[in-house]
Amino acid sequence: MKLDSGISAVVTGGASGLGEATARALAADGVKIAIFDMNEEKGEAVAKELGGVFCNVNVTDEATVDAGFEKARAAVGQERILINCAGTGNAIKTASRNKETGEIKHFPLDAFNLIIQINLVGTFRCIAKSAAGMMSLDPLDGGERGAIVNTASVAAEDGQIGQAAYSASKGGVVGMTLPIARDLSREGIRVNTILPGIFNTPLLAAAPEQVKQALGMQVPYPPRLGDPDEYAALAKLMVTNSYMNGEDVRLDGAIRMAPR
Ligand SMILES: NC(=O)c1ccc[n+]([C@@H]2O[C@H](COP(=O)([O-])OP(=O)(O)OC[C@H]3O[C@@H](n4cnc5c(N)ncnc54)[C@H](O)[C@@H]3O)[C@@H](O)[C@H]2O)c1
Repeated sequence: MKLDSGISAVVTGGASGLGEATARALAADGVKIAIFDMNEEKGEAVAKELGGVFCNVNVTDEATVDAGFEKARAAVGQERILINCAGTGNAIKTASRNKETGEIKHFPLDAFNLIIQINLVGTFRCIAKSAAGMMSLDPLDGGERGAIVNTASVAAEDGQIGQAAYSASKGGVVGMTLPIARDLSREGIRVNTILPGIFNTPLLAAAPEQVKQALGMQVPYPPRLGDPDEYAALAKLMVTNSYMNGEDVRLDGAIRMAPR
């Protein structure tokens, strides 16, 4: 797909980090941007700067997602691109024993379910609704109608201690990529997923510089955290390379996460 001002994109989680970098990279090629995020202040600011539109969307809430697509399509046109970056994690052991008190606890199921709802079901909700909208578009040269990029994590493959919910949610995103690509193949809509390693985003901003450096040193090469622009470059490649479809790609400097 060739990027220009005739194309619009919905970027979930576009108010921050990987989503924001991708929204900026697409806008630099003229693509019209709709930001879907719960962070209204940051989302509005990014959308305004890019000449796009902000939609206050919680990907777990069907009504806000529907309203978001309606607002986005009225403002910038039916999207041909969907970038799914909205997501979060938690760190809780499946079952654990308090060393001092001996108290035994397990992972609260509502906390497990929340992460699945945001990262997995929320991603699928946006894919399904966006794909249905893309199907109303005339195909471009070569029969292509749209391109979707999802964000999993290397935790889909090498999840660490405490990451049962996060890894399950991201593993779900990896697992559904191929069947969704197959579902949408007749309509000319491609779907690919990025598995980022450790990226320098506001998710890590709270960590002291030393901790970030130590994390970066664990990466074989280059020994540093990933730059959100490097994620954006791969997302853009997945959109523009029309032969890339149904693929899950690690972007991680060859890191394989240790148990902790
Ligand atoms: N930063 C990393 O190292 C890293 C590594 C692997 C995977 N990821 C994944 O990349 C994605 C983006 O992460 P990031 O580092 O840019 O984080 P970030 O916190 O900077 O950005 C995430 C954005 O998603 C939004 N968001 C969260 N829950 C939402 C919801 N329910 N509905 C709508 N918006 C919601 C937040 O408001 C935020 O603006 C996440 O899915 C994360 O799991 C990040």
